[in-house]
Amino acid sequence: MSDATNSQKKKKFSRRDFLKSSASAGLGMALTGTVLKGASLTKGKEEKKKAGNLNIAIIGTGVQGRILIESCLRIPGIRITAICDIWEYSQRYASRYLKKYGFTVNIYEDYRDLLSKEKNLDAVIIATPDWMHAEQTNSCLEAGLHVYCEKEMSNSLDKARTMVNTSRRASKLLQIGHQRRSNPRYIHAINRLVHEKNLLGRVSQAYAQWNRAKSDMIGWPKKYTIEQSKLEKYGYASMTHFRNWRWFKKYGGGPIVDLGSHQIDLFSWVFGVNPSSVIASGGIDYYKNREWYDNVMAVYEFKTKKGIARALYQVQSTTKHGGFYETFMGENGSIVISEVLQRGNWAWREAHAPEWDSLVKEGYLQSETQPIPKVKTKNIFVDVRVTAEAGRWPLPVELAKPAHQPHLENFFNAIIFGTPLNCPGEVGYECAVAVLKVNEAIKSRRLLKLRPEQFKA
Ligand SMILES: NC(=O)c1ccc[n+]([C@@H]2O[C@H](COP(=O)([O-])OP(=O)(O)OC[C@H]3O[C@@H](n4cnc5c(N)ncnc54)[C@H](O)[C@@H]3O)[C@@H](O)[C@H]2O)c1
Repeated sequence: MSDATNSQKKKKFSRRDFLKSSASAGLGMALTGTVLKGASLTKGKEEKKKAGNLNIAIIGTGVQGRILIESCLRIPGIRITAICDIWEYSQRYASRYLKKYGFTVNIYEDYRDLLSKEKNLDAVIIATPDWMHAEQTNSCLEAGLHVYCEKEMSNSLDKARTMVNTSRRASKLLQIGHQRRSNPRYIHAINRLVHEKNLLGRVSQAYAQWNRAKSDMIGWPKKYTIEQSKLEKYGYASMTHFRNWRWFKKYGGGPIVDLGSHQIDLFSWVFGVNPSSVIASGGIDYYKNREWYDNVMAVYEFKTKKGIARALYQVQSTTKHGGFYETFMGENGSIVISEVLQRGNWAWREAHAPEWDSLVKEGYLQSETQPIPKVKTKNIFVDVRVTAEAGRWPLPVELAKPAHQPHLENFFNAIIFGTPLNCPGEVGYECAVAVLKVNEAIKSRRLLKLRPEQFKA
């Protein structure tokens, strides 16, 4: 999910801002963006790095590939020189869009041709369906390129592991596209408030959901139908499978992987440990002709330093009720947060908890808004609810750029300046284990125990 359509302030953005914006998410950080028109390049890789210019290619220019292109165009020094996609429709869409911003790109159908012909690349962004990630990532890393690969790393844990190992062997960076890891609001909420300030006290519960209204299979403009022989050459059984790959086991992991992985990733970040077990229920309850579970509910257990914690996650694809957001619940309060601001960005304080006024003064929280009035009523249930929460404190950090831009900046900074990645392959792999195990738990209809060594690639 992206808020790439948000209106952006088109301000000048210096290299210092570029570095600062992704390296941290400090209080009051300046968050601005700009759309870059055709950057000038110096020759030679080393010189380019010194100048902060990077040549990159995008493999997979479908919906997400185009969102990432849009963010790249806002980052000074990033020059897209080539794109690759097996579908002419996606090639044309992306190349025309890039042309509008002064980039004439080389276009490839097969990523192997791109790798053999493009000799001046520094990095590649991969946004193809999940099942292609490992093969393409491994080839790009082995060709000496840094890789930003979209989540889910892979629909197979064996394949996901090869990605981490290839990146180590090739000594090239591998960033996985869990963009919340670089979102300053999430960094503030989890690193600053939950961990550093212990705002919520002991956090024992988390809840997250991503509910979507029912939807038909995705179609395609008929004049861009791919010939059957070409579909088969690239491993797709039909145009329906090619367009709706998420729902089929060969190519993807279903809604729990597609949507859940963004949010389940946050659980281990908040609890500081990977889950020790998962139990889940799900099924193909509603749709016909789809292979993955359309509705899933999963419960994880975590053995945290402070004791046992549990997280409940649900993804529903037949109701939009409540949309998508995450809640972290502690003895002293809760944080409700979402990638889309309107769906959550505040903390609730339990009535008995210590005051948060000093944190407002220090800038960790904004002033309390919407205090809940103490209503005198005979209705015991209302009383209980009223006394449970003392008010609502908005979080002071907002993201004023498209949601994926800070994560891309973090990747480019790591290449240019050697700063740490926010979601290296190892972290992406841990999330892949937690998420893909849900499908296994549903199938086996039992609780799966998860050992710490299972999360190591
Ligand atoms: N981080 C996020 O917020 C986010 C959001 C959406 C999707 N994604 C991820 O991005 C990836 C792409 O998703 P999408 O929604 O753009 O799907 P999509 O179907 O819209 O686009 C996939 C593109 O890849 C192309 N493609 C398929 N096989 C290929 C191959 N072998 N070589 C080159 N191109 C190939 C298709 O032609 C298509 O243009 C997935 O891994 C998905 O999970 C991430």
